[in-house]
Amino acid sequence: MRRETMCIQAGYEPKNGESRMIPIIQSTTFKYDTSEDMGKLFDLQASGYFYTRLQNPTNDLVAAKIAALEGGTAAMLTSSGQAASFFSVFNIAGAGDHIVASATIYGGTFNLFNVTMKRMGIDFTFVDPDCSDEELEAAFRPNTKAVFGETIANPALVVFDIERFADAAHAHGVPLIIDNTFATPINCRPFEWGADIVVHSTTKYMDGHDTAVGGCIVDSGKFDWRAYADKYPGLTTPDESYHGITYVDQFGLEGAYITKATAQLMRDFGSIQAPQNAFYLNLGLESLAVRMERHCSNAQKVAEYLQGNDAVEWVNYPGLPDNKYYERAQKYMPDGTCGVISFGVKGGRTAAETFMKHLKIGMIATHVADAHTCVLHPASSTHRQLSDEELLASGVSPDLIRLSVGIEHVDDIIEDLAQALSSVK
Ligand SMILES: Cc1ncc(COP(=O)(O)O)c(C=O)c1O
Repeated sequence: MRRETMCIQAGYEPKNGESRMIPIIQSTTFKYDTSEDMGKLFDLQASGYFYTRLQNPTNDLVAAKIAALEGGTAAMLTSSGQAASFFSVFNIAGAGDHIVASATIYGGTFNLFNVTMKRMGIDFTFVDPDCSDEELEAAFRPNTKAVFGETIANPALVVFDIERFADAAHAHGVPLIIDNTFATPINCRPFEWGADIVVHSTTKYMDGHDTAVGGCIVDSGKFDWRAYADKYPGLTTPDESYHGITYVDQFGLEGAYITKATAQLMRDFGSIQAPQNAFYLNLGLESLAVRMERHCSNAQKVAEYLQGNDAVEWVNYPGLPDNKYYERAQKYMPDGTCGVISFGVKGGRTAAETFMKHLKIGMIATHVADAHTCVLHPASSTHRQLSDEELLASGVSPDLIRLSVGIEHVDDIIEDLAQALSSVK
């Protein structure tokens, strides 16, 4: 199946007379005829469901679709993108371990790593995604357990050199984890470039309609945990907290990582996606390929329009030929990148505030990556407590507008931007 077909068909094949749509199994618990039948589930000797805090059939069918789209061997849905990023690392690292991460990752992930997970005893080194080979090499330590990056960074729109970071990670015997939220598997398949694990905030393009917060983790099944058994004892030695199972022995490289995350992390943290939300997510996935095409073509036209408007100081979009990341984007995402653009309004903070006040179609929202065009001026909203100097130090200029181009008619989006920009001239 091609990806457009997978969006509709993958993950669930109804049998004769069964519902065509993935059914919502809105049940916390599952019934068994005998205790022995249930015991086999607890020993992970049989697959099945017993409690939705760990696993639910609706979620698994939707996760299977995302696994197919990414070209992975196993996947799980989580309650949010944050939970997916947390589990993806915590599944293979603990107190005393170290992770190398790109410095331009989404702010929420940065805070999760730099504050909360540091408090748990995991250390992080943040590297410039365009750092020299020497700087990258120097970031690794003997206790490094993974490398983490974002295909297209939110909001900096830095295109990550997946192949380069995968090679560096593998040279040090650790996996590369990629947050593929902005590109989606329609535009980029990180596993084809050497990544080992992919995470998503499904809240964004995958859901695509502002309906359900969610996340997903997909395993490529390619990372050889056995070859680095000393580094990953959680996968290669018996789990005494789960009936003495050794995940790689029982589930192979293709299933060990996700099974461990389900059996241990979902059991203990319970950050599972509600089946109802998984159903909404599946509706979003069905149209993902069509929507991504439209997001990208709209964004390209909008970016070109903004570049030609003399009320605009600068435009950052990897689809523009003069963009720093254009060549890299062409390599990893030849069919398009995403619908998110950032640009600066001439006249700084005040002019940007005036522009925001005049928008009619562009919706003021902190969200990005859904059907509606969303606009944010960080200096007067999310970052309003910062002075211009502090803003610049945090990489957000006072004039910066983040524009998530939706799938409305592009002429309506451009006309709205034009009239709002004319108000600041
Ligand atoms: C790239 C990226 N990763 C992860 C997240 C976190 O996802 P969620 O909000 O679903 O927890 C976000 C949220 O904006 C994001 O943009």
